[in-house]
Amino acid sequence: MDGIAEIRAKHLDAIGKAGDGEALETVRLAALGKKGEISLKMRELGRMSPEERKSAGPALNALKDEIDAALRARKAALDDAALEERLAREWLDITLPARSCPRGTVHPVSQVMEEMAAIFADMGFAVAEGPQVETDWHNFDALNIAPEHPARQEHDTFFMHREPGDNRPPHVLRTHTSPVQIRAMQAQGAPIRVIAPGRVYRMDMDQTHTPMFHQIEGLAIDRDITMANLKWVLEEFFSAYFGRPVRTRFRASHFPFTEPSAEVDIQCSWVNGQLRVGEGDDWMEVLGSGMVHPHVLRSAGIDPGQWQGFAFGMGIDRMAMLKYGIPDLRAFFESDLRWLRHYGFGALEMPSLHAG
Ligand code: PHE
Repeated sequence: MDGIAEIRAKHLDAIGKAGDGEALETVRLAALGKKGEISLKMRELGRMSPEERKSAGPALNALKDEIDAALRARKAALDDAALEERLAREWLDITLPARSCPRGTVHPVSQVMEEMAAIFADMGFAVAEGPQVETDWHNFDALNIAPEHPARQEHDTFFMHREPGDNRPPHVLRTHTSPVQIRAMQAQGAPIRVIAPGRVYRMDMDQTHTPMFHQIEGLAIDRDITMANLKWVLEEFFSAYFGRPVRTRFRASHFPFTEPSAEVDIQCSWVNGQLRVGEGDDWMEVLGSGMVHPHVLRSAGIDPGQWQGFAFGMGIDRMAMLKYGIPDLRAFFESDLRWLRHYGFGALEMPSLHAG
């Protein structure tokens, strides 16, 4: 049959030159597609004499198979080349050390605040908050702290800057969490049971004092709350917090905002220079407390003839040091990563009360 050799040469040449799948498909259609050259030739077979067909048929069939095989082979070769190229491009050096993805830790102060809130929540205390920049009325006056009280003097309190001629009453960085008592009572009235953990500020800096530290305030007001309730709540708290029974000792004291007032010690012992809470017969002072002064209730809009209750204020940082054996307070606020990694907590470490 005429032209088979040319057709063969033409298509094999085109296959060899096809540089990608798309070009190869064009060649396939031109040769073997419905209107492809070889397909058209095969259709001509019908019009041939039986002799012609006898020689042309097998020749065309053989050509079709050959072109088909050549297309496949070229396709495989192109795919291989593409893969080679990708592998060369997308290499990965698996001998490189993995990238580290450092994870932060929960600061002991945050951890301890969580633990404390969980323990007090079990006793029905909600969490209250107040601003760290506080009016001197909330921080002092409302708490029955007279203007001439030493706590108000410049050497203790950070006062906010005022332009000359600005005669607004001063704002201070709150020196304790007690102003939250006032805010919570104003907002909610009585009865009320809240704790207020947060930052407080005093001009103080040595091995055991930092200008910013943390306190937790407690306040319970109802019709017949007494100091016995205070003692129970605190002993319950310390025992849950330290995970063992802890006795308390109340010593008479004085705060302008409570009457009577008591400083509270917890039972402890020193063994080989190691402090142990909840055993032995030493005492360690940990908080101030008392029955809320009638003046304070009145400042917050509560009738002291109807309501009474207790308040306490405790240092959180110190409680963290005691529970987790952390020696130096200043390190709490230096943001030294080695310290944070050592003393920090994992995100899923549960407050002691929950873990049990
Ligand atoms: N606010 C007191 C302090 O900072 C602690 C305290 C709170 C005492 C509540 C009595 C009642 O020292």
